[in-house]
This record gives sequence, structure tokens and C-alpha cells, in this order.
Amino acid sequence: MTTSARKLFVTTALPYANGNFHIGHIMEYIQADIWVRYQRMQGNAVNFVGADDTHGAPIMIAAEKAGKTPQQFVADIAAGRKQYLDGFHISFDNWHSTDAPENHDLARQIYRDLRDRADGSLIEVRTIEQFFDPEKNMFLPDRYIKGECPKCHAKDQYGDNCEVCGTVYAPTDLINPFSALSGAKPELKHSEHFFFKLSDPRCVEFLENWTQDGKLQPEVANKIKEWFTVRTNPDGTTSEGLGDWDISRDAPYFGIEIPDAPGKYFYVWLDAPVGYLASLKNLLEKRGESYDAYMADPAMEQYHFIGKDIVTFHTLFWPAMLHFSGRKTPNNVFVHGFLTVNNGEKMSKSRGTGLDPLKYLSLNMNAEWLRYYLAAKLSARNEDIDFNAEDFMLRVNSDLIGKYVNIASRAAPLLHKYFEGKIRDHGLSGAGAHDVIKQVEAAEAAIAEYYEARDFGKVTKTVMALADVVNKYVHEQAPWDMLKKFPESPSAHEVLSVALESFRILTIYLSPILPQVAEQALGFLKASTSSWKAIHRPLTSHRPADEAILAYKHLMQRVTPEQLEALFEPPAPAAQAQTATETVAAPGGEELAPTITIDDFTKLDLRIALIVNCEPVEGSTKLLRLTLDVGEGRTRNVFSGIASAYKPEDLVGKHTVMVANLAPRKMKFGVSEGMVLAASHGDEKANPGIYVLNPWPGATPGMRVR
Ligand code: 2FM
Ligand code: ZN
Repeated sequence: MTTSARKLFVTTALPYANGNFHIGHIMEYIQADIWVRYQRMQGNAVNFVGADDTHGAPIMIAAEKAGKTPQQFVADIAAGRKQYLDGFHISFDNWHSTDAPENHDLARQIYRDLRDRADGSLIEVRTIEQFFDPEKNMFLPDRYIKGECPKCHAKDQYGDNCEVCGTVYAPTDLINPFSALSGAKPELKHSEHFFFKLSDPRCVEFLENWTQDGKLQPEVANKIKEWFTVRTNPDGTTSEGLGDWDISRDAPYFGIEIPDAPGKYFYVWLDAPVGYLASLKNLLEKRGESYDAYMADPAMEQYHFIGKDIVTFHTLFWPAMLHFSGRKTPNNVFVHGFLTVNNGEKMSKSRGTGLDPLKYLSLNMNAEWLRYYLAAKLSARNEDIDFNAEDFMLRVNSDLIGKYVNIASRAAPLLHKYFEGKIRDHGLSGAGAHDVIKQVEAAEAAIAEYYEARDFGKVTKTVMALADVVNKYVHEQAPWDMLKKFPESPSAHEVLSVALESFRILTIYLSPILPQVAEQALGFLKASTSSWKAIHRPLTSHRPADEAILAYKHLMQRVTPEQLEALFEPPAPAAQAQTATETVAAPGGEELAPTITIDDFTKLDLRIALIVNCEPVEGSTKLLRLTLDVGEGRTRNVFSGIASAYKPEDLVGKHTVMVANLAPRKMKFGVSEGMVLAASHGDEKANPGIYVLNPWPGATPGMRVR
């Protein structure tokens, strides 16, 4: 490996902005995030970006159903992303949108470059026959025509590509097509479409080389080979070789208008991958750096993490778009398989599985359990992996906690009890290091290689084997026995120090996978850094000699069977309905908050309050000052932002509901001792109005609302 810092541009596939993340997205982000964190630890400069894939007919239609503009619709989806990304410790440097101006400009420019090539245009306009829905009176987008796959004969496949065998085809190739919007039998009509001439010998030659030069995973490269060959299949059908790619769609379409072609839009898959560049450009420009200079640097390496269902787009269309528009092509595309859950059905793009990421988080399940578990299952190969609840519990509780965390939780308290928390200052490094440490350190190069190759399962396996070595050593030495006989035992001190130094190195090995645990662990050890180089800097060199480590605090709880049971409990019928339609409007203009337990709810003490007095607040146009009787034998002073909706005299004498156990808050105008409840729409500008809650007659001050 080179010693100078590498310059890496890394992406994950851009999710359609028509639904929340499901566990398949999270798996991909975790996989990429582990790799990225490892690269950063190596001192490499990484730009890790994502974005929402916003265009296309399905989103346009979903927005219409939700009564929103497509722009508002995708903005609402975007607003929900952060809780997942933060929740699972995904360290994107930027999250953007394919509807952003950078993407419009870049996509149009790439198109012009393909069209205006000096050696002959790669864009061609042809009149095609396209399916038209006579009931809906519109050309049918590929995804709204369904039928039988012409290649593998799987039923109910979309019009653009088969989810079963991966074949990309035209909707007119489908057997027994029908409109998914109306169910009508579609009619063929003429329309002018724009094609990217992938069958041009220049493209074929370039792509054959690009996909078969050894960079791609072998199983991926082999599969792609099939796309180039013209041949007769065993079932009598013929494979055509590389066909031209239809890159335009007719209005109405939510997308990017094609230059010099009013009413024609880029097919979503043309501008989607350009979104990688747009997000990067947006990031660099926010930092005041030059996008052009970054892209022109021959040392820059570009990598895309994707799922196996979108290989064609990323290994044929995308490199061809880039190359023939005079741009740099990706250094590699890393393909992963699907995630199944409890041996269940494969992860479906639109339906997800029974493992809901937000539910996982809301059950107080540790994000790093999942990161660890997925890492343990992931390899560099494009193969499916299964999330299995029992296996999950075993790996987290027995391996991660029982082996790795165990080293620190046993050694650190003894070091504090007998040696004031001080690490013994020799035997930790160099030629004189203890054999156990030597062994732990010696795995560094192999582990680095596994990370580089995305063979994360081998990382966790190696680290757990080393944890076994350390635990065995501590167990055999039994420092607790030595200390009973001789509380200052230097041998016991050595064992504890060796154990904790080993633990520090193992922590660095695991920190791309467990960033939060690693931060806590290195924090209590007072180890100053988690850079990869720090592996060879013993604990005693991180701070003044003789300075104690901090007291040990639990790094991680165990998974409980109850948590797993709750995780897979089917959602309530109302929630199920929402998952099924998936694109329904957010109720009241905002997504539901993560699920809480009844215990969470009972923390809130809601009481009936009588509004004894109400007056305007001088110097504020928003606030009213309420004097509330909550049956406590005194009144409370509460400020409420409802002046736009109520005159003080409207409220005096009315009952309402207040949060009675909210910590008092000091405001500019005085102390507010609670909060009254009121309803409002998530988008207050578009839907103004504030409605204070009012109980049915009969409720009296102080009654609890539950
Ligand atoms: O398959 C998908 O979910 C697409 N939205 C992926 C796009 S990746 C990139 F090209 F934007
Ligand atoms: Zn098929």
C-alpha cells in the first residue's frame, strides 16, 4: 500500500425519494461506512456522499396522490433521512438531491457532451411505439406497465427490467402487458425518443474492456459478460447483445428537461447516478473547494457501493456516460447481495422486510450491535446474507460482549482497585513486549487487508480469535488469585496491563465497525487517538507517565430476547396499511415520530388545566401569558405561542390540557411552568392555524390525561 494519503470519492446507491429507508438501505450504508471509516483511520482523504433519487414517474404519481408538488413530496422524504443516518452512525459527508441545480446542470452537460462528440454523436432520435393508457390518457412509464419477463418468464415484472433475472428490456418486450395504473390493456402509440447508442462499436469495445479488465468482483464480471453476447438461449429465445438505451420520457414527467427538446425529459436512470457527482460538487463548493480540480486529479479514486439489482446501470450505462462525455470513470463498483430476514423472503425494494430500522432504534437496541452483526456476515462477494434473530443474539452477546468487552470489564476494575488505575509501563511494546501483545499486534497487516478488501467477516473473526487469546491468558494467570495473596503483585499488574493494552489494540481494529463503542473505550483508557498508526503506540505513551486511566463504565448492554421479540412483532393494522401503500401523505404534514413504549408515555404527566387568566405579552407578537389552575392550590404561569390564533378573552374560563411535569423554562418574559397542548399542521406556512385542545365538559382541573 502507498504511504501517501489516498483521495477517495465514495458513494452508496441513491434511494428513491418515495419511502423511508428499510433495512436493505441501512445494510448498504453500514457496509460503505465501515470501509470509509477504515480509510479515514488510515489517513486517507475521503468524500463520502449520498443523495435522494427524486425523479421519475412513480414519484410524480405518488406526489399527486398525496396532494403535494413533487418538490414538496421529496423534501418531506428528505427530512426523514437524518434520524436513520445518525441513528446507525453513518458518516456521510453530504446528503443531497438529484433535483438540485448541480444535478440539472451536470446531467444536461453530460448529455450535450455525448450528443456533440467530434467523432460522431452517441445520441440518436427515433420514433418509437410506446404504450399508452387509454383510460388515464397518458404514455405509460415503464414501471406502470407490468407483465411477464420475456427472458425468464417471471410474472408481474415491471416494464424496464426484471427483478428476478436482472434482464433490462423495453416494456414492449413484456408478455401480456397491462397498465398498473388502471389495469387497462395498453395501446401502442408513436412518440419521439432519445437513445444513447450503446450498441455503437465504440461503446461495446470500451465496455467489454471496462467490465472485464479484472477490477470487478469475478461473479459480477461473469454475469455481465452475458450482456455482450449474441446467442440463442437453451429455451429458444435469443440474447441480443448490447442494445441502445432509451433515455427520454414524455411530459408529464418529474425530471430534468432535455436540452433543445421541449417536453422531453431524461429518464430517471440517466440523471440518478449523475447525482453522485452533484452531491460531491455541492459538498466541495460548500467547503470552497473546486469540483473541477478535484475531478481532474488523476490520483482521485471513485467507488460506488451498490446492490446486485442495479449492476447494469452502474457497470454499463454509467461508465459509458462518463467515458464518452470525456469524464473519469469509477475505479470500481462494489456489489453486495440482498439481505433476507429470519430466512424469509428476499428484501424487496418497495416492501422491505420485517426488520424496521426505526423500530430497532426505538426499542433502544444498540446501533452497533447491528453494525457488528452485519460486519460479521459481510464478505467481498456479491452474495445474500440473512439476518437471523438467534444468531444475532449469539454473536452480540457471546462474541462482542462475552469476548471483547469482557477483557476490559474484568481487567479495568482490578487495575483501579489495586493499582490506582495505573498501567504498568513496560512489557507493552517493542521487542520486550509480552507475547500476547505481540500476537495481537501481529494481526495488524492482515486485518488492514481484510478491511481494504471489504472482507469484514474476516475482520471480526480474527479479532474474536485474538480476544480468545487474551481471555485465555487472563484466565490462566488468574490475577485475582495473585492479588488475594499479595495485593501489590507485579505479576498481576502485568497481566492487567497486558490485557488492557491488548484491548486497546482490538478496539482500534474494531473501530470502523463500532465507532461509538471505540470512542468510549479509548476515552476511558485515555488513549488519545484511534488512527490506524496508533496500533503501534502503547497505552503508556498516550499521556504523562503515571497518569491513571478513568474508571470503567459499561460499554454495551446485552441483547435481550424481549427486544428481539418486540422487533419482529407485526405492526398494528393501521401501521401495516401505511407500509403497504408506502407513499401515502404524511398525516398532518409530518411523519409519525418513532414508536415509544407505554413507559415512555407515562413519563409525560398531562393534566386538565383551567385558564384562569390570559393576557398579551408586551414585546411579543406570538406569545400569550396564561394563568392556569391545575388543581394544585396555586396557579401556574405558562407562556404559549398562540397569539396569532386566539384573543386572550377567547380563552379565559376554558379548560385545556397541559404538560404538567415539564421542567420550568426561563424565557425572556418570565418563567414558563409547563406547556398547553395545541394542534397544528407540519407545514404551517401552507396550512396555517393553531388549535388549542379543549376537553369534553365534565373534566376538572388536575385530572390526569392518559
Ligand atoms: O434502485 C434504486 O433504488 C435507485 N434509486 C438507485 C439509484 S443509484 C444511482 F444511480 F443514483
Ligand atoms: Zn426475468
